[in-house]
Amino acid sequence: APGEVITAQSGAFERDPQESSTTDEELSRAGSPGSRGGSSRTTPGYGEKRLPQALIIGVKKGGTRQLPPSSVTAGPQALLSQRCIWSETHPRGLRLLRNVMPKTLDGQITMEKTPSYFVTNEAPRRIHSMAKDTKLIVVVRNPVTRAISDYTQTLSKKPEIPTFEVLAFKNRTLGLIDASWSAIRIGIYALHLENWLQYFPLSQILFVSGERLITDPAGEMAKVQDFLGLKRIVTEKHFYFNKTKGFPCLKKPEDSSAPRCLGKSKGRTHPKIDPDVIHRLRKFYKPFNVMFYQMTGQDFQWEQEESDK
Ligand code: A3P
Repeated sequence: APGEVITAQSGAFERDPQESSTTDEELSRAGSPGSRGGSSRTTPGYGEKRLPQALIIGVKKGGTRQLPPSSVTAGPQALLSQRCIWSETHPRGLRLLRNVMPKTLDGQITMEKTPSYFVTNEAPRRIHSMAKDTKLIVVVRNPVTRAISDYTQTLSKKPEIPTFEVLAFKNRTLGLIDASWSAIRIGIYALHLENWLQYFPLSQILFVSGERLITDPAGEMAKVQDFLGLKRIVTEKHFYFNKTKGFPCLKKPEDSSAPRCLGKSKGRTHPKIDPDVIHRLRKFYKPFNVMFYQMTGQDFQWEQEESDK
C-alpha cells in the first residue's frame, strides 16, 4: 500500500527508558484488543524489518497520539521485552534495533514514536549514530498548557500528589519556578532543540503545532504527509469535530465502520490553576518560546493565547 505509514512505539533508541511517559502508557494500551482499531495492517510473514525512516520524538502531551491517525501495528509486548537490551556499543545494535520494528512492505514507511526522546540528552547523539538520515517530527504545544496537561495525567494516576501550584515553584514567595520539575522542564523547547541541532539540520525536523492539530487537523496532517514524502491520503474529509468530546475525531477509519475519537486519557479536563501562577509561568517561558520561534523560523503564537484551555 503505497504511502502507508507503519509505526512502532518502542523506545528503541533508549538505553534506560525512564519517565513513565505517554510511551509506556500507550504501549500497554496498544496491546489490548480493539485498541486503535486493533487489526494489523501488515501481514505477518510479509515485508521486511527496516530501521525507522522517521521518528516522532516528542513531546509528551503535545498531541502525539494524533500522529499518524491510525497506524500502530507491531506487538507492543514483544517490543517492550526488547527495548532494554539494545545498546549503542553492542555489535549487534543495529540488528537488534531493526528487530523491534514492525515489518513493512515497499512503499510503506517505518516510524517509531517515543515522546521522551526530545528531552533526553543522549537521544540525538545516539539516534544520529544509528540513523542519521531519519526524519524527525516534534509536536509542540503551549508549554504552560502542556505542563498542566502533564500534571493532570500524573494526577489521574496519583491523586495524592501536591497541587500544581505547589510543585511549580521552588520558592513561591520569591516567584522562583522549579525548572527541574519535568512537567516544566519539558516545555523549555529551545533548550532541548539546541541539543538536537548539534546533530541534525533543521530541515530534517518537522515541528507540528499541537494547537493546530486540534483546530485544523487536516492542515497539520498535510504538512506531516508532505514532510514524509507521502501522498496526502489523510485529508479534510477524514475528520469531523465531535462536540461532546470537544476534539476532532476520525470519521471512519479504514479498519472499522464506526467513527473514532481518541480515548478518555486524551482531552482530560484540567484542574483550575491559580491565574497568578499561570501568569508567572507564561513569563518564565516567554524568552524560551521566543528563542524557539527564532530557531525554528515558526511563530507558534503561544503569547497570544488568552487562557489555558
Ligand atoms: P489533554 O488531555 O491535556 O487535553 P498526547 O497524545 O501527546 O498524550 O497529547 C494529549 C493531548 O492531545 C491532549 O491533552 C489533547 O489536548 C491533545 N489532542 C490533540 N488532538 C486531540 C484529539 N483529536 N482528541 C483528543 N485530544 C487531542
